[in-house]
Amino acid sequence: MPSTLAAEPSAPSQGPLIALDMCCGCGALGLTLTKELGDEGIRVELTAADIEPAAVVCARENLAGVGGRVFQGDLFEAVPSDLLGRVDVLLANTPYVPSAEISWMPPEAREHEPRRALDGGADGLDVLRRIAAVAGEWLAPGGRLLVEESERQAPIAAEIMRAHGLAARIAECEEMGATVVIGTRA
Ligand SMILES: C[S@@+](CC[C@H](N)C(=O)[O-])C[C@H]1O[C@@H](n2cnc3c(N)ncnc32)[C@H](O)[C@@H]1O
Repeated sequence: MPSTLAAEPSAPSQGPLIALDMCCGCGALGLTLTKELGDEGIRVELTAADIEPAAVVCARENLAGVGGRVFQGDLFEAVPSDLLGRVDVLLANTPYVPSAEISWMPPEAREHEPRRALDGGADGLDVLRRIAAVAGEWLAPGGRLLVEESERQAPIAAEIMRAHGLAARIAECEEMGATVVIGTRA
């Protein structure tokens, strides 16, 4: 996910950018965001969360160097409430594989990754639905929810965000072959 998408106009003019990497896995997205924006002179205060204990252990190790704090729990349940209404960038690379398509995945993913890291429900968007439903409570005014999706899922993800009051748009990065849906809080 290109970090430039996260730093567009809502980057705060003073104080750190508050970032939350939800469904962080090993913490790669939050770490990249923090480092790339840091190179541009934007300080990031990073929080991350995941439901899998093994992922949390890994993310804590990976994010220690940038001062990231990592919590274990079901979505926002363990995220400190001091972030309510303050998040400038909410990253969420949620489980996105439709349940019926998991059996088509290569064995290294299907057999070695926890099912809940992959399974996004009937259309792959169930976890995103849960996040979008409460994103407005966690985002600061002008803050953004960024979700990477397939081209097929992106328009549906945008509609889900709109249904929860976010202004949604789809951004494509040809170089990375990435489609990102961005929901902005008014
Ligand atoms: C597709 S992986 C993404 C991992 C990481 N963000 C990345 O980009 O490499 C989805 C992650 O969502 C986590 N996850 C699934 N359901 C969750 C939930 N209810 N609450 C928090 N994390 C969850 C999984 O444990 C997994 O680490």
